[in-house]
Amino acid sequence: MSRTVFVNGEYLPEEEAKVSIFDRGFLFADGVYEVTSVIGGKLLDFAGHAKRLARSLSELEMDSPVTEDELLAIHRELVSVNEIDEGLVYLQITRGAADRDFAYPKDTAPTIVLFTQAKPGLRDNPAASVGLKVISIEDQRWARRDIKTVQLLYPSMGKMAAKKAGADDAWLVEDGHVTEGTSNNAYIVKGGKIITRELSSDILHGITRAAVLRFAKEAQMVVEERPFTIEEAKQADEAFITSASTFVMPVVSIDETPLGDGAPGPVARRLREIYLDESLKTAI
Ligand code: PDD
Repeated sequence: MSRTVFVNGEYLPEEEAKVSIFDRGFLFADGVYEVTSVIGGKLLDFAGHAKRLARSLSELEMDSPVTEDELLAIHRELVSVNEIDEGLVYLQITRGAADRDFAYPKDTAPTIVLFTQAKPGLRDNPAASVGLKVISIEDQRWARRDIKTVQLLYPSMGKMAAKKAGADDAWLVEDGHVTEGTSNNAYIVKGGKIITRELSSDILHGITRAAVLRFAKEAQMVVEERPFTIEEAKQADEAFITSASTFVMPVVSIDETPLGDGAPGPVARRLREIYLDESLKTAI
């Protein structure tokens, strides 16, 4: 079935949706994006994603073509017309189409695109009971990872390296310390303590991360925000990642070293449950 997508103010069948070859998203990766999950036809953490989008746009001196209310209405309309029960809404805003020039063009209308992806089984993802295998690779991305830009080639290369190594994903390492996963935030658990890198321009400020850490603290779990090495991670009791598309997902091995008993750990399993229960209460 053809999806209905949203492009620059119009709802269209996906085959009819077009953007210019001069779009700066295409020519310069001059654009930002957000991914919001849908469960039971409702959006999780929408306000957090809208807030981060506004920040990404502002860091790049880009204007939003829509207000937050309009953005919510578009998300809801796409979820409804495409009958998404479990899935994702992808949103991308670029600086728009202009003759190719490195300098930002003046008075160019931004391009906005939204589409849905149906993902039945997102909530009861079987991967959560098996856990992910990760490899470690050098973090060779640019240094403003706090801006959610569409420059996703290095994360794609990382996923391919993981696949080739028979793993599911890669953790990125800079100056000997893990920054984050290719498209998720990274955590280890040692002696009941949850350890994850602190916020800075080295990592994306995950919306799921913020919620999970809040819920963990509310459940009296100890959280330590600091960098950790791959060696420390290999000796952890357990590990996990968070993102809008995986929620909380256990990691069971790093560079082929099994963590703990090699099965998803209790902290990751509990946090996944808490995150889903609590986020669904405020889903809209
Ligand atoms: N990725 N770090 C990176 C590099 C990411 O790309 C993402 C999200 C996260 C987690 O952020 P959040 O919890 O707000 O989803 C961390 C999305 C899901 C993607 O690119 O598909």
